[in-house]
Amino acid sequence: MANVIEVDNISKSFKIHHDRHQTLKERLLHPKSGTTELFSALNNVNFSIAEGETVGIVGHNGSGKSTLLKCICGVLQPSSGEIRLRGSLAALLELGAGFQGELSGRDNVYLYGAMLGFSRKMVDRIFDEIVDFSEIEQFIDTQVKFYSSGMYVRLAFAVAVSVSPDILVVDEVLAVGDERFQQKCIDRIKKFQEEGRSILLVTHNADQVRSICDRAIVLDSGLMIADGQTSESLRIFREHQLADAQANDVAGTQANINIDSVTTPSGTFEVRSGAGIHLDVNLSAEHAYSGNFMFEIFTRTGLLVSRSDPQSSPVNLKQGPNRIGLDIGALPLLDGIYDINVGIVDQRGSTVIAWKEQAASMQVVYEGRESGIVEISSSIEQ
Ligand SMILES: Nc1ncnc2c1ncn2[C@@H]1O[C@H](COP(=O)(O)OP(=O)(O)O)[C@@H](O)[C@H]1O
Ligand SMILES: [Mg+2]
Repeated sequence: MANVIEVDNISKSFKIHHDRHQTLKERLLHPKSGTTELFSALNNVNFSIAEGETVGIVGHNGSGKSTLLKCICGVLQPSSGEIRLRGSLAALLELGAGFQGELSGRDNVYLYGAMLGFSRKMVDRIFDEIVDFSEIEQFIDTQVKFYSSGMYVRLAFAVAVSVSPDILVVDEVLAVGDERFQQKCIDRIKKFQEEGRSILLVTHNADQVRSICDRAIVLDSGLMIADGQTSESLRIFREHQLADAQANDVAGTQANINIDSVTTPSGTFEVRSGAGIHLDVNLSAEHAYSGNFMFEIFTRTGLLVSRSDPQSSPVNLKQGPNRIGLDIGALPLLDGIYDINVGIVDQRGSTVIAWKEQAASMQVVYEGRESGIVEISSSIEQ
């Protein structure tokens, strides 16, 4: 497959001005005081995206995700390196980028189209579809500056997907607006994938990356620390988050908990649908620690089947080796392989102290003929 985006060793630095004199009077007295420092937001980032690929970019706040997308879209110029694009690109960047506040929604749609090289006639043809998708028909002649962030995103998303770009770039915006509209956007993104277009997606939602992306890139303080299969990249991202969280959680850091293995006394991870399974989670702690045990079950395609309540399973780990028995009751799952992630979180259930992604995989055997993920008992009356 040909590449549609090539990011060739780009770096981006911002000048940051430190002013020692804060008040207006002080500044007037010392007009040239303060120092300018170069802050490196992206450092030698390299990757390419092939036609038809959907790639997620994850990283903590300030890791450089938006800066990278802005460089790709041409909103920012990289300090060094080169970006090559093939095909048309439509971008949904952070709020504020894109539309002109003084213009109405309608005029912005035409302006945006013109920027992408669309004639008025061509925009006429897709205008109704855009307004339809956005569901903000009654505000289409209102100046965009009066839009709520939700309305803004609705219109921006509708335009970006309706102009049929070869490459769609989305920064976070899927987090804005209600869940129903978010789902509508995700469905539209999936349709895009089916059409063989390329998508670059920045989101905070790891579950979204898991379910949409073929591949994920992880940024950490402007450095690309992973680029590969989604589950592997997310594992690396989680480990880094964990290291950061541990740095803030002294007891958790000192405990230095390591999840060694997940075993099952029966020796098999094969389970009949409707039956339960017992797992033993073997871990070791350098110091005693009190927190909560947590687990997740995912399908192989990355759909979250269940995530346990992070506050409902308190555990007191002793120094040295520990074993936590996990009894999962009747699993109403259909045929398939399911991955289990396990971890220890703090007492409030807000900080991950130790985590093991794909700690075990179970094979659920189901002999019925239903398809999907869960078994739903049903009967009909006539
Ligand atoms: N215009 C700018 N001037 C100075 N610093 C900036 C500018 N834009 C972004 N930064 C800094 O660059 C870093 C990366 O920001 P950003 O790309 O927005 O991160 P992310 O989208 O991953 O949260 C942050 O530390 C941010 O403060
Ligand atoms: Mg950002």
